[in-house]
Amino acid sequence: MSLKYVLLDKKDGIATITFHRPEALNALNSEVLADLDAAVDDVIADDEVRVVVFTGEGKSFIAGADIKEMDGCVGLDIVNYSRKGVEIFRKIELMTKPTIAAVNGYAFGGGFEFVLCTDIRFACSKAKFRLPEVTLGIVPGFNGTQRLPKCIGMNKAKEILFTGKMLTAADALELGILNHVTEPEQLMDEVYAMAKQIADNSASAISLVKAAVNAGADMDIDIGKNIELGYMAACFGTPDQIEGFNSFKEKRAAKFR
Ligand code: CAA
Repeated sequence: MSLKYVLLDKKDGIATITFHRPEALNALNSEVLADLDAAVDDVIADDEVRVVVFTGEGKSFIAGADIKEMDGCVGLDIVNYSRKGVEIFRKIELMTKPTIAAVNGYAFGGGFEFVLCTDIRFACSKAKFRLPEVTLGIVPGFNGTQRLPKCIGMNKAKEILFTGKMLTAADALELGILNHVTEPEQLMDEVYAMAKQIADNSASAISLVKAAVNAGADMDIDIGKNIELGYMAACFGTPDQIEGFNSFKEKRAAKFR
């Protein structure tokens, strides 16, 4: 597989997908989206990959959708472009492997929306977040209007969406958009430390936990509780459950594979 606009690296069960279009601050044009889609399909299919980390090359994570590519689009052109991003983002949100965003710089527009699709979010203290679409006369096209209110509540989301104001990493942490903020030079070390901690746990159990949490976000607890029950039952008798229970009885760390 040859990728130009994202880099894909795999080590010790952790895949890193790096946005790599520095000349445009990693803005998401159709080619970046196509490479991202291919890299995501690759890590989904690779049984050795247990955790997926996303980061950006240079001073930007993702500076948004590509304004130059969208310029001049009308009607179906923009629907097709937007739908491509929406579908890939949803695939990332629902993939059974846990994902971590390592936000190294600008996360604007579609970049901010991308962060909202990941499971766990780290940013360096210099990162900046913004949904500037209303300053361009458009609406967020990669489901920021849907995911931001779910993440931080309607009123706070509306303020960010209506003003297009810039958030610092500290602001995003306080709002609950981020899990952790680090010094720039510590970002990847801290991300990989957590990725390793997750990769050492049962991948099959984590995939079911993620599916249960994602499903529960969109349904009543009386339906969600039965989904959890089903997943609980599905764990029993699996190699990971047997190894996990044996490790407890033998007073040792579990070795999942
Ligand atoms: N699309 C296309 N090109 C972009 C871009 C984008 N979103 N963001 C940056 N670039 C390009 C710039 O045009 C510039 O290219 P040239 O050298 O050819 O002119 C290059 O990247 C470097 O950018 P700057 O010189 O502007 O860098 P800076 O450090 O001075 O500023 C910035 C950085 C504040 C992020 C600024 O680039 C910026 O405001 N970019 C636009 C951000 C934005 O509005 N994003 C939202 C897009 S709309 C969207 O995302 C819709 C959606 O939901 C799907």
